[in-house]
Amino acid sequence: MLFSKKRKSFLDNLPIHVGIIMDGNGRWATQRGLPRNVGHKEGVNALYRVVKALKKFGIKYLSVFAFSTENWKRSKEEIDGIFNLVKENINFDSPKFKDEDIKLVTSGDITKFPDELRTSLEETIERTKDKNGFVLNLAVNYGGRMDIVQAVNNLIKQGKKSITEEDIINNLYTKDLPPLDFVIRASGEQRISNFMLYQMAYSELYFPKTLWPDFNEKEIEKCLIEFSKRKRRYGGIK
Ligand code: FPP
Repeated sequence: MLFSKKRKSFLDNLPIHVGIIMDGNGRWATQRGLPRNVGHKEGVNALYRVVKALKKFGIKYLSVFAFSTENWKRSKEEIDGIFNLVKENINFDSPKFKDEDIKLVTSGDITKFPDELRTSLEETIERTKDKNGFVLNLAVNYGGRMDIVQAVNNLIKQGKKSITEEDIINNLYTKDLPPLDFVIRASGEQRISNFMLYQMAYSELYFPKTLWPDFNEKEIEKCLIEFSKRKRRYGGIK
């Protein structure tokens, strides 16, 4: 048997779609007297560990906040560092993600990215479109408010005079994904920071203190145990 008896109960109540705000990379690096980009680099290793763990536990969808519409305010050095990490790791040719049965999708306006990065993302999206073991949704140049605005603009272009919730859902960047069941923000900060606002309307939220670069299978298991204890009522009475 793959899992012990004690660990088994949380597996009966797993989220389908997990969202993660990968916070604390900068603090992780600063605490060690290292440049912030070293924290982001460790953040990629944490992402890899977490993807592996989620796959092992049977979870199918993960959305991660890799670059927000507000992150352009950071130094050019830090932005270039994050872009390089995305380019080098998310092409799935890197030893970490190679051979994993993962479909890459993105949420956000990647047309604003340098050509090389945008092309690399587009190529990986195309190359992995038929994989079905796991879906990694990279939120890049993404903001929850802009996602809703671009959905409404799409609907205006379609000539809609009035719209429904379904119309919005079907025009968000995440139109092919289920709603978020569980949103984790690493590092103890208790904010949503314009992550997937519409998609998390009925998400359970969790704010573990662990900084993102320290995330591993054990930590993600703790998060899933926490989720398994939540009683979701969706506004009703149980
Ligand atoms: C938040 O930590 C993290 C980010 C803004 C960037 C996250 C990016 C990565 C993990 C690398 C992206 C690469 C891939 C392959 C997905 P922070 O810098 O705000 O940390 P702090 O709050 O401690 O300063």
